[in-house]
Amino acid sequence: MPSSEAAGRIAELRRLVAHHDYRYHVLDDPEVPDSAYDALFDELKALEELHPELVTADSPTQRVGGVPAAGFKKVEHLQAMGSLEKVTTPEALEKWAADVRKRLGTDEPVAYVLEPKIDGSAISLVYENGVFVRGATRGDGTRGEDVTQNLRTVDAVPLRVLTRDGEAPPPLLEVRGEIYFPLSGFARFNEAQVAAGKKPAPNSRNAAAGSLRQLDSRITAGRPLSLWVYGAGAREGEFPRTQWELLGWLREHGFRTNPHAERLETIEAVAEACTVWETRRAELDYEIDGIVIKLDDLDQQRRLGALHQRPRWARAYKWAPSTAITRLNRIHIRVGRTGALNPWAELEPVHVGGVTVSNATLHNEEDINRKDIREGDLVVVQRAGDVIPQVVGPAGPHAKGTRPFRMPVTCPLCGVEVVKPPGEVMHRCPNRACPSRGLETLIHWVSAAMDIEGVGEQFVRRLWDAGLLRSMPDLYRLTAEQLAALDGYGEVSARHAIASIEASKAQPFSRVLFGLNIPKIGWVLARNLARRFGSIDGLIGASQEELELTEGIGPDRAELVAEWFAEEENVALVRELESLGLTMRSGEAEAPVEGPLSGRQYVITGTLEGYTREEAKAALEALGARVSDAVSKKTAGVIVGESPGSKVQKAEKAGVAVLDEAALVALLAERD
Ligand code: IVH
Repeated sequence: MPSSEAAGRIAELRRLVAHHDYRYHVLDDPEVPDSAYDALFDELKALEELHPELVTADSPTQRVGGVPAAGFKKVEHLQAMGSLEKVTTPEALEKWAADVRKRLGTDEPVAYVLEPKIDGSAISLVYENGVFVRGATRGDGTRGEDVTQNLRTVDAVPLRVLTRDGEAPPPLLEVRGEIYFPLSGFARFNEAQVAAGKKPAPNSRNAAAGSLRQLDSRITAGRPLSLWVYGAGAREGEFPRTQWELLGWLREHGFRTNPHAERLETIEAVAEACTVWETRRAELDYEIDGIVIKLDDLDQQRRLGALHQRPRWARAYKWAPSTAITRLNRIHIRVGRTGALNPWAELEPVHVGGVTVSNATLHNEEDINRKDIREGDLVVVQRAGDVIPQVVGPAGPHAKGTRPFRMPVTCPLCGVEVVKPPGEVMHRCPNRACPSRGLETLIHWVSAAMDIEGVGEQFVRRLWDAGLLRSMPDLYRLTAEQLAALDGYGEVSARHAIASIEASKAQPFSRVLFGLNIPKIGWVLARNLARRFGSIDGLIGASQEELELTEGIGPDRAELVAEWFAEEENVALVRELESLGLTMRSGEAEAPVEGPLSGRQYVITGTLEGYTREEAKAALEALGARVSDAVSKKTAGVIVGESPGSKVQKAEKAGVAVLDEAALVALLAERD
């Protein structure tokens, strides 16, 4: 191919690759399968090899990383990279908003843009006439380090500003953003570090910063780094007037902006969103350490200016860090009420995410060994919002003399040999008479099921140890005198406990059913059974076929329920509870809500913008609809959010209506 023809094809291929990169990295919506993308990329690489004179630094083939550098050059930022003043309470946020209003003139409308505060490494990207020419770390805010070569290896960093046909790129554009290390890749990265005898990174921020400062950019290229951009520094040419428009503009021009950014008009709504995100951050595949709140209007930003390189027009709402390092002292096993052996970690107490954590769940043997954590190791502990603390991985090489974790061969409580059914990850104690089952069932009964005030796990364990409690009926025969005779139990608290146990007899039938610990019958299915059969007698007499007619109960569960009620001792237990005065008939709690959507069943798939899934479900149910997991002929509609699952295809195949979020909003408004 003559050079001129090759140049044309090369330009076309670069445009195509850039387009598909944009679909993939920015829009998260690839148009072609990976193989088609690879074919374009390979053709480009082959042509460039034939015509090395046509290779340019902004070609996507140049992302691989080059010869190691001796060190990083210092570069002066075109505009200083400031930092953010932080607030930690809604009150401090409101005080800031009041101050902003005072400075601006109180009548002026103010809107805010909220963005997740990504816990990575701040960078500046400079584009001249649309071409990426320099990337730098923040450094001291005035001068940073030139990490251009390394940034070129990050797929999410555009090598060119994306422009529409005929649109000229801005002569100068400095984009600001945060390079981050995805959490999914972080655990794997640390495993590999440990396997290679190197120190694991204590958190994903250090991993991002460390990866960016590799002298050999081939090492950076091997890390799964990504980028969210959130602003601009120096620039020439046409430019948006608000932060909200700027985010849209950056996205249109090929930069990855965070989909969770949001524009709000009152500071109360901002404060609320900041609190909600403290829990929601656990859903993200990257660390955030707070929310950045910016004035939306860029002119207002300019008028407010900065104090000591900290803008008056923005604040960082920060939470306590959600990860910490501590020692894993021991791995304990707890046998659950279904016989599953659940390992948990006893930790050296550590402050994380605003509370002191001294234990964490560990899932199962496979998971522990995949994470490569051992008793005695220093480990990274993660906690976010209400989520149970997790051990993420090792925080250093194994302590001397440690061994990989093995599940016990016999049940720690009854000594019977444990089993691990093929295809399952959990080890189980097969002994149905294992004391753990009685104990755990009792704990489940007083807490999750009957919700007895002031009577919880500790109470049950104590009475179990004292030999006063072996089954649920025992609970209802306890006397205040028995309790008061226990060490440290006052008369008042004894009477109080007895009164709440007595009061729990009035709990609805569905709670009693849930508390019975029938295999695979959780709260929702217990309620469905109560609704369908109306009373314990109805259930005891039900055949497997009849049970299967209950919503959510398939043949497997129907068999388990039928088996459970076929056991004499279970029926005896139920009858005894009945004679003690517990509710054995369905009542108001089990009555389905009657409303304009009664008799209609919906399925929700994907992430909705304005609702969590629970909220959408509750809103539909409040109008009488039912929300289920599986699409069937009975489904009235499938509500589809972002990144939906295969349920959409199923719905289309079954001829079921597909509704987007706007249609859901309309449905709720119309029927409400
Ligand atoms: S705006 C004048 N927006 O937080 C500084 N910063 O202390 C304006 N960060 O390391 C920064 N996410 O890189 C802004 N959505 C976001 C951010 C963000 C993370 C980092 C930033 C810097 C630190 C600021």
